[in-house]
Amino acid sequence: MPDQIGTALFKPCPHITVIMSATPKASSKVTVTTLHKFKQAGEKFTMLTAYDASFAGLIDRAGVDIILVGDSLGMVVQGHDTTIPVTVDHILYHTQCVARVVDRAMVIADMPFMSFADVPRALDNATRLMQAGGARAVKLEGGGHVIPVVEALAKHGIPVCAHLGLQPQYINKIGSYRVQGRERDAARLMLEEAHAMQNAGADMLLMECIPAGLAKQITEAVSIPTIGIGAGAACDAQVLVLYDLLGISHGRIPKFAKNYLSQTGNIEAAVKAYVAEVKSGQFPAAEHSFE
Ligand code: KIV
Repeated sequence: MPDQIGTALFKPCPHITVIMSATPKASSKVTVTTLHKFKQAGEKFTMLTAYDASFAGLIDRAGVDIILVGDSLGMVVQGHDTTIPVTVDHILYHTQCVARVVDRAMVIADMPFMSFADVPRALDNATRLMQAGGARAVKLEGGGHVIPVVEALAKHGIPVCAHLGLQPQYINKIGSYRVQGRERDAARLMLEEAHAMQNAGADMLLMECIPAGLAKQITEAVSIPTIGIGAGAACDAQVLVLYDLLGISHGRIPKFAKNYLSQTGNIEAAVKAYVAEVKSGQFPAAEHSFE
């Protein structure tokens, strides 16, 4: 939409040559429009988590398109066994650390457990993460019941990344971190929810631990970009937790993760290898995906 408005209003001076390209200059900031152009052009893009300035700067320079300040920080930084203890203040602090140094990538702040339980709370917390934190979008877990929140955020100019499939904030209800959407009814519901998120104004859709076939179906059905983690190679983009990519997370390594540090020997090369493998379609392979 902004593009159409821009095209309609912008009449280039006949003496000036305007060069347009689907791939932005290496230094120009990644925006929601950039991500939509990637999807339209069939160009894969990348997301990686970061929680501090040093890693954020490195992965920004390595060409990662989106940096997610995920509530996974509760597990990989704080040492909890779930993401439930993470608060808005925690995400705010780490978003500030990241946003201060990032030049090109889009910084997305995760909305932690209960921080978007109703519309006024969601608007207040997202405002803090954007104004004080420097985030340029927020991500939130949940299905149909979060639609009013997505709608309100989108109406106020806050880009939203919806998060379907495995939702770790529901761990106390679901009991274990397992693949979602395998049963026919669950798959149908997820497809409906994906459409509903798009209609509510979500700008992208993250899908965690779902069968690769379902992720492909959803990716083809919606016009917003999809970002997969344990969701197969057909998604428009991939995301990993940085510490899984480096092989330094404590506890069990998830099936969908790949240790790029062991194959490259240094952190910058590891992140660049991840970017290259996602863009070429080499990652994720079948061994990182679910049926
Ligand atoms: O919190 C997080 O890091 C996430 C990713 C696993 C997608 O939600």
